Amino acid sequence: MGNLGIKSVSLYLKELVIKHEVDFVIAQAENVDNGKGISKAKYLRLKKLGIDFFTGGNWTLFNPEIHSFLNDPKEPIIRPANYPDEYPGLGYKYLDTSKGKILVISLLGKIVGRDLNIDFANPLKTIDNILEKEKNTPKIAVIVNFHGDYSSEKVVIGHYLDGLATAVIGDHWHVPSNDARILPNKTAHISDVGMNGSLNSSLGVKLNIAISRWRNGTKLKNELIEDDKLQFNAVLIEFDTNTGLANSIKQIRITS
Ligand SMILES: [Fe+2]
Repeated sequence: MGNLGIKSVSLYLKELVIKHEVDFVIAQAENVDNGKGISKAKYLRLKKLGIDFFTGGNWTLFNPEIHSFLNDPKEPIIRPANYPDEYPGLGYKYLDTSKGKILVISLLGKIVGRDLNIDFANPLKTIDNILEKEKNTPKIAVIVNFHGDYSSEKVVIGHYLDGLATAVIGDHWHVPSNDARILPNKTAHISDVGMNGSLNSSLGVKLNIAISRWRNGTKLKNELIEDDKLQFNAVLIEFDTNTGLANSIKQIRITS
């Protein structure tokens, strides 16, 4: 979330990758441009900081600068797969790692993109189609990012894909949920992984703006806080490259 999100990644990611011998890093980066979208420069900066693949949310298409990268199957960045086909970008791509290919898929929940007035396809049907289409491509893992709001959707999609995906990771709340676990058929799941960015804010937005809008109905635009303590939220997943199923999921939360 915003510049402090990038700062948080720059402070903590490299050390964690070394400490836990992480093979690849996937992040949601739809909010790094002052809360809305991602510029080419910020995408390249985050890649340099160690992020190997970027999933998508309701703000991913906001900055048109990134559309050519979203369209390119070789650039590791996607938008939600349940956008109508005529929209820019791809909803899933493969990430090449030293141990094999990983299929990464983004999906949007029912109410997240409501204000966009777009006729999103049903995420469960969308992922059925993707998994069917890609069933013969050799891969060591399938990672699904579910960008959703309803807690019920976030939980249900984990069970829907249990045994079919390596991990189903929810986000969009910006607040981590405390339910990371391995589901009965060995899919790693969490309802919401939380955000990286400022600690004392309303999901990254200055508190005085959020409070005045809520209490007094004041019409104020969101402004991100640029100087604050930080939070870093992530999950660490270990999986079996032969079965594509997860052995463990561990939440990581650091505050400064
Ligand atoms: Fe979002």
